[in-house]
Amino acid sequence: MTVEITDTADAFENPFRPGAGHMPPYLAGRATERQEFERLLGQTTILENLVLTGLRGVGKTVLLDTFKPIAIQHHWQWVGADLSESVSVSEETLALRLCADLSVIGATMTIQEGQATGFAGGPTQTKLDFATLTGIYASTPGLAADKLKAVLEIVAASVAREGKRGVIFAYDEAQNLADRQAEDQFPLSLLLDVFQSIQRKGIPFMLVLTGLPTLFPKLVEARTFAERMFHVLTLDRLEPADSRDAVVKPIDHAGCPVRFSEESVQLVCSQSGGYPYFIQFICREVYDAFIQSQRSTGAPTPVPMDGITQKLDADFFAGRWARATDRQRQLLWCIAHLGSAEGEFTVQEVVAKTEELLNKSFSGSHANQMLAALGKAGLIYKNRWGKYSLAVPLFDRFILRQASTTEPAQLA
Ligand SMILES: Nc1ncnc2c1ncn2[C@@H]1O[C@H](COP(=O)(O)OP(=O)(O)OP(=O)(O)O)[C@@H](O)[C@H]1O
Ligand SMILES: [Mg+2]
Repeated sequence: MTVEITDTADAFENPFRPGAGHMPPYLAGRATERQEFERLLGQTTILENLVLTGLRGVGKTVLLDTFKPIAIQHHWQWVGADLSESVSVSEETLALRLCADLSVIGATMTIQEGQATGFAGGPTQTKLDFATLTGIYASTPGLAADKLKAVLEIVAASVAREGKRGVIFAYDEAQNLADRQAEDQFPLSLLLDVFQSIQRKGIPFMLVLTGLPTLFPKLVEARTFAERMFHVLTLDRLEPADSRDAVVKPIDHAGCPVRFSEESVQLVCSQSGGYPYFIQFICREVYDAFIQSQRSTGAPTPVPMDGITQKLDADFFAGRWARATDRQRQLLWCIAHLGSAEGEFTVQEVVAKTEELLNKSFSGSHANQMLAALGKAGLIYKNRWGKYSLAVPLFDRFILRQASTTEPAQLA
C-alpha cells in the first residue's frame, strides 16, 4: 500500500473536500438523478415535484447545486435557500422566506404600478423587489394561502413575459419544515397547499426539496396528496466504479504530486463504504499523510488507515454517539450486531438481538420508546412502513469499533 510522490507537492493543493456542501473535485455517479431532473424540467404543467433525499453526507447539497446550471440552461429560473428551523416558526416566516427568495429574480422584473392591488395601472413601473412582494402579500385580503398565491401569481406573469419556462424553488434541509399545531401555525401545509393550487392553475413553479430521509414521510403526514405531488429520488452510497472515480479522478492530473496505488484505492473504497463524505475525508487525510511522510522520510508510505479511522471517529461519529444515553447505546450496540444494520430492521429483530446479547434485554414497548428517542436525536429514522434504519452512514461499524464484544455500559 504505497504511493508515489513527485517533488511538485507545493504547487498542487490537496483537492479533496470533506465538508457539508463543499463541491467535490469530481462529482462521481448521479447520472440517473440528473436525467430524472432533466425529465422534470420538460414539464409544462407541473404534475411532479422533486424530493431528493438520503443519509447525512451522501451528496444531496452538492447534487442540488449542480441542478441549478442545468435548470438555467433549460430556460428556468432558480430560487432557493437552506431551510433552517426558524423558517418554520409561522406561516408568515415561510411567506417572507419565499418573498425574499423571489426578490432575487424579481429585482430585474417590473410590473405596472397598481397591478398588484387591482387599481388601474399607471405608467409607473415597479420592480418586483422584496418591498413590493411583501407589500402585495400584506395588502391581499384573506388567509396566508391567498396572500402567498397572489404574490406567486404576479411573479408568474412576469416570468412568462420574460420568456422563461418557469421557476424552480430549491430548498435544502427541508426536513426542518414542520407544522406547529400547538401554536396553530401550519407553514408546511401552507407550502404544499399553495404549490398544489398554483400548479393546478398551470403556473410552472416547481418545488425541489432536499433533506434527510424523514423529509418525505413528513410531507405526506402533513398532506396526503404530497404522495402524488412528489417524485422521490433517494441518493445512496456510490456504485463501486463511481467510488473509484471519486478517488482517482481528482489526482489523475499531470501536476498532482501523489499517485495512489491500486491497493490504496481499493482500501479507500472499502473503508468509505462508497459514502461520498467518507471518500473525501479519507482521501484528504491519505493525501496529506503521503506528502508529509515524503517530506520527513523521503520515502513512500503505507496508507495510515488506523490513524485516519481514529480521526474520523473523533470528528464525525463521537459527537453523535455522545447524544445517546448508556441504555440507548446498548440498544444501538445490539442494532450494530444485526446482519441488517446497514439496511432496515424491525423492532422485533432488535428485541430478539437484545435477548441474545444483553444481560438485561429490552421489552418491545421499551425498545419502541427508545427508538423514538433515538429518532429525535437524529440517530435513527423510521420509514413509512414502520421499519427502522440508522440515520448515520456506517454508524454500525463505528459502534463495533468502540465495543465489539462487550456491551457498552460494562466498559466504563
Ligand atoms: N457524487 C460525489 N462524488 C464525490 N464526492 C461527493 C459526491 N457527492 C458528495 N460528495 C462529497 O461528500 C460530502 C458531502 O456532500 P453534501 O454536503 O452534499 O452531502 P449532504 O447529503 O448534503 O449531507 P447533509 O445531509 O449533511 O446535508 C462533501 O464533501 C462532498 O464534496
Ligand atoms: Mg446537505
